[in-house]
This record gives sequence, structure tokens and C-alpha cells, in this order.
Amino acid sequence: MSSRPKILCLAGSLRKDSLNKKLVKVAMAAAQDAGADCTYVDLKDYPMPIYDGDIEAESGIPENGKKLKKMLKEHQGLLIASPEYNSSISGALKNFIDWTSRPEPGEKSIECYIGKVAGIMACSPGALGGLRGLVTLRSILGNISVLVVPEQHALSQANDAFTEDGKLKDEKNQKAVANIGKRVTSLTKAILESELVAKS
Ligand code: FNR
Repeated sequence: MSSRPKILCLAGSLRKDSLNKKLVKVAMAAAQDAGADCTYVDLKDYPMPIYDGDIEAESGIPENGKKLKKMLKEHQGLLIASPEYNSSISGALKNFIDWTSRPEPGEKSIECYIGKVAGIMACSPGALGGLRGLVTLRSILGNISVLVVPEQHALSQANDAFTEDGKLKDEKNQKAVANIGKRVTSLTKAILESELVAKS
């Protein structure tokens, strides 16, 4: 096993001009510079019904849910940018977590989340930048055995925050978001290395 961390990067927004999609790519670029192999996944490419126990009982996890679970299993880290809807996380992000937390036959519940390292961020055109949604997201991830790094960033006035080439205009903001990507990379790498030592 290589100690090069693999990090799955996504935003909790479906819309094509999403500011949160831009934001997570800032953290992803920093993670790549720090030595991670990153995969960007757009949840709009994986439509799923709202979680319904009857659908699950009749036909199991939707195919797109299974594909997303497979991707989660192949990565040790997560970078998530979460839009804030009515002070909480988006329905798309919650639905992604709900379906992918469900076990397939022979699996433990939340199997593809246990032991992952995550970095979280948010942005919004408003004054709080989505900070309240991050409180909820940190709580949800912590409760499904994800280690969420302490660094996080909520970027306000985000509709005028990005340069043409996808960086943040304000240097402090750019640094703070990049730092989340770096931290998830270094922590994931340290965990992978300690696992390699334990196995040797
Ligand atoms: C919002 N928005 C919003 N913004 C915020 O800062 N706090 C909030 O509670 C909410 N609530 C909210 C509810 C709903 C239903 C919508 C559609 C929007 C505004 C939101 O932050 C803005 O639309 C962002 O641009 C959404 O993120 P993306 O799609 O740009 O990534």
C-alpha cells in the first residue's frame, strides 16, 4: 500500500455555477500540491431519490449510491464544501451521506466512513458564509466516525470572492482554504504511514 493519500472532493450543491464547487477546488489544488491524489466528484452527475426505506427494502441502494460508496471506499480523505440552506446543510449533501452510509450485504453500517479524515468549508453570498451549516456538518460526520480536522473556513460575500482562474482574491481566505487541503493531506498521510508500520 502506498502512503500517498487519496482524497475525494465534493460540494453539497448541484448547480453548475455553484460557489461551493469553486471553493472545494481551491482546497483540492492545495491538497494535490501537498502530495495527495484527489478525485473531484460532482453530485449532479449522480442523481438519487430522497432516501426512502421502502425504496431500499424493495430495490436496495440506487446504482449511483453504490458508485459513490465505491468511490468513498477508494479514498481515505474527504474535502467537502457545504452550501448553507436555512442554517443547515443542503438536502443534496444530506441525501448523499444518508444513502452512502447504508450497508450493502456483508458490510457494516457506515463502513465507507469509518476512519476517514475530512476537511470542511462553506461559502455564501451572505455575511456568515455558511458557518451555521458547518456546525451541523461537523456533527454529522463526527457521529459517523469521520475525523474532521479542526481547521475550517466559512467564506462570506462569496459571489465576488473568486478570480477568473479559480483562486480566492483575498490572500487570507486563499491561505485558510488551502490550509484545510494541506491539513487533510498531512493527517491522512500520517495515518496511512502508521498503518503501514503496524502491518510491517
Ligand atoms: C440559501 N442561501 C443561504 N445562505 C446563507 O448564508 N444562509 C442560509 O441559511 C441560506 N439559506 C438558503 C436556503 C435556500 C433554500 C437557498 C436556495 C439558498 C443562499 C445560498 O448560500 C446561496 O444560494 C449559495 O450560492 C448556494 O451555494 P452554491 O450553490 O453557490 O454552492
